[in-house]
Amino acid sequence: MKKNKALRLEDYRPASYLVDSVDLRFELDPAATLVRATLAMRRNPEADAKEDQLILNGKHLDLRSIRLDERELDTDHFQVDDEHLVIEGVPQAFTLETEVIIHPEKNTALEGLYLSGGNFCTQCEPEGFRRITYFPDRPDVMATYRVTLVAQREQFPVLLSNGNLVAHGDLDAGRHFAEWEDPFRKPSYLFALVGGKLSCLEDSYTTASGRSITLQVYADARHLGQCAHAMKSLKQAMRWDEQRFGLECDLNQYMIVAADDFNMGAMENKGLNIFNSKYVLAASETATDADFQNITSVIGHEYFHNWTGNRVTCRDWFQLSLKEGLTVFRDQEFSADMTARPIQRISDARIIRGPQFAEDAGPMAHPVRPRSYVEINNFYTLTVYNKGAEVSRMIHTLLGEKAFRGGMDLYFQRHDGQAVTTEDFVRAMEDASGIDLSQFRLWYEQAGTPEVQVERHYDAEQKRYCLTFTQSCPPTPGQPRKEPFHIPIAVGLLDRKGRSMHLQLEGESRAKETRDRVLSLTRTRQTFEFVDVKQEPVPSLLRGFSAPVKMKCDYADEELAFLAGHDEDEFNRWDAGQQLAVRILLRLVDDLREGRPLHADNRLSDALRDTLENPHLDRAFKAQCLILPDENYLADQMDVADPSAIHHARQWLREHLAADLRKTFLNTWQDNLEADPKQVDAATVGRRSLKNACLSYLSLLDEEIFIELCANQAQLAHNMTDVLAALGILTHRDSPQREEQIAAFYRQWKSEPLVIDKWLSLQAQSSLPQTPEIVESLLQHEAFNIKNPNRVRALIGAFCQGNPYHFHAEDGRGYAFLADRILEIDSFNPQVAARLTTPLGRWRRYDPKRQQMMKAQLERIAAREDLSRDVGEIVEKSLA
Ligand code: PHE
Ligand code: ZN
Repeated sequence: MKKNKALRLEDYRPASYLVDSVDLRFELDPAATLVRATLAMRRNPEADAKEDQLILNGKHLDLRSIRLDERELDTDHFQVDDEHLVIEGVPQAFTLETEVIIHPEKNTALEGLYLSGGNFCTQCEPEGFRRITYFPDRPDVMATYRVTLVAQREQFPVLLSNGNLVAHGDLDAGRHFAEWEDPFRKPSYLFALVGGKLSCLEDSYTTASGRSITLQVYADARHLGQCAHAMKSLKQAMRWDEQRFGLECDLNQYMIVAADDFNMGAMENKGLNIFNSKYVLAASETATDADFQNITSVIGHEYFHNWTGNRVTCRDWFQLSLKEGLTVFRDQEFSADMTARPIQRISDARIIRGPQFAEDAGPMAHPVRPRSYVEINNFYTLTVYNKGAEVSRMIHTLLGEKAFRGGMDLYFQRHDGQAVTTEDFVRAMEDASGIDLSQFRLWYEQAGTPEVQVERHYDAEQKRYCLTFTQSCPPTPGQPRKEPFHIPIAVGLLDRKGRSMHLQLEGESRAKETRDRVLSLTRTRQTFEFVDVKQEPVPSLLRGFSAPVKMKCDYADEELAFLAGHDEDEFNRWDAGQQLAVRILLRLVDDLREGRPLHADNRLSDALRDTLENPHLDRAFKAQCLILPDENYLADQMDVADPSAIHHARQWLREHLAADLRKTFLNTWQDNLEADPKQVDAATVGRRSLKNACLSYLSLLDEEIFIELCANQAQLAHNMTDVLAALGILTHRDSPQREEQIAAFYRQWKSEPLVIDKWLSLQAQSSLPQTPEIVESLLQHEAFNIKNPNRVRALIGAFCQGNPYHFHAEDGRGYAFLADRILEIDSFNPQVAARLTTPLGRWRRYDPKRQQMMKAQLERIAAREDLSRDVGEIVEKSLA
């Protein structure tokens, strides 16, 4: 494996030359597209060295000609290598014109200009523009763009780019053209074009100030009926950003295009968002309630980028979380307002505490603002996105809504039209609020998950209650020692009846009533002393998951059950039940490993029964409480993960709960049967989630009737959530019903790839012993296509990340299977291959035998010649 050089934040230098405006002309042809770029350039007054050498990025480009100020350059005036074009002796200001040929048809990496379903589309973030033309492809070079697209009218009737359509018409030989102009300066990563046969759902939106914006959602004609939810979400997002942040859409036309082949979720190109079709298309027959919610949040996310990302962009890619963390925070807040806040928070926390904490504890651990990288595509991570969102959220918690809004206003006032850093963001927040965030900045700089240990002490005589917190953070690559973080800890104290008590700290006057407050933990060890505490409370800690930390408190099981039944903070109420379940499950795992008989613990059953029977709790919330911590999360809680024992313990507990709560599950299931299959409002979604959660428990009882019920539901339900819930139960049962329903589902949906993805995942996640063979054979299935990232994630991703029991099979075949696929995919799509590598990088978490097998596969990958930089970086760091 060749070693690739790391780029370092400290080496940042301003660009030597800037681009004021860009004129692009594309003669679109799948085999060979001609791109002519005319760049108006000048020396950057801010650049330090006064050299006259111009270096442009360019990758896989066939250079045809270069003209500098209209004079053709001959070959002694420039040099071209794999990645650059270098021109010596350029003047202070000049016009550069290049002509290159690119090959969209051969582009399997899905970066730059490529074809998806016969349509042209682009993906330029972070460094795809250099695969289209020679350019200073870095986000701090911002220019205005004028784009002319030329193509065959028959084959490519729709021609789109950023901004406004300024001209269009016919040309000779069946060709036509469209000319687009984007008035806003933007970095090259926000450039986009689309060309092809697409239909469009159109609507309009009137902004708060009364401007009318044309909204268009483009998809292939047969999917036009599945675009309404995306359109509705877009309008909701536009309204929400006006109301919550005072931010209005600045465009005349806002377009969204659904593409079937897309490496990521979606892309915020100015005025022309390109989406993975999975995050656009939905109907209640074909998409689950979760799909509908994901669409709302991704549509919101890309729309919110128009301000946080596009109007104010990143100076360099080390600052990625400046736009991503903040925008995820914004989309989470939007989703919370569109559905139910506690449910949204539970889903945010699941991501952080599951895969993000795992990332923090693994070989790729990096700060929210990384200090170095080899391949920037490897840093579109849960840390940058989701932990970054938590960092924005903590600032919000520390400042409060009003001051946070003031900080946002100041940020836009200062930096609109600029490419800036996370430091600029934090400074705006500080300046607007007067709150000192100097220690808080460590959240951007230090990697790893802080652990907070709590000790509690009640002095009955003095009526004083002390909470002492001790924080630490394990070492991460390149960061052996950490400074203490500034951690906001939201707390409440519950009295014996479960009511929150008044909270008054030592030295404070009893001025105002507070039953919920945020403590700032800033030191390694710090005590908070509450006065006038009439009885020993049960503390409710880290309410609403107020910081991305591991909070450790020596609660008795009874206390967790008590919190699960009483905490006013719904998030903590859910969390207490989860913590109790984790404890019980880990004890069962121990028992299994030691060969002891398994014993039931009634506390969890009792808590769940109380929850289910409580008329004041929301159905969606109850459904969340019924989901036991998943196998990956449980593995992370063990010193040495034992995937097999975890799987069996969890299965055993689910069966035990089913038997214990049979009556409650049955009643709840029956009470919620009436969930209108056509509706996807929060109340109906809640009903569906609750009845299906109950059914999944009931199906574990030894009663054939429930299996029949599932088979019927799979066959007859007119709602994909219901169908999939039933099929998701059947997939784990070796029964004729399983085979029948899986076959019937395929027959019904084989022409809808997004639905077939669900079918692939379901089989990949089965616990049946034949699953590894089934997965192998699905690779050959007509529905599978290894070139499509969605198919790869649905089958290979679901098996290797969503089925730890089989992936970690003792004979190591799961590891070999994954390594084979990574090597295969790396040869045509390095980004997708690199993302698949994560599970192998976790080898340190397993027993010596598995460690050895996982490492052997990583070494096998590393030995491959011409491995991509993407996979190379991850494999190298995983083995370090
Ligand atoms: N910027 C996109 C988003 O978060 C993600 C993305 C990154 C898409 C790189 C494609 C390529 O919304
Ligand atoms: Zn984003």
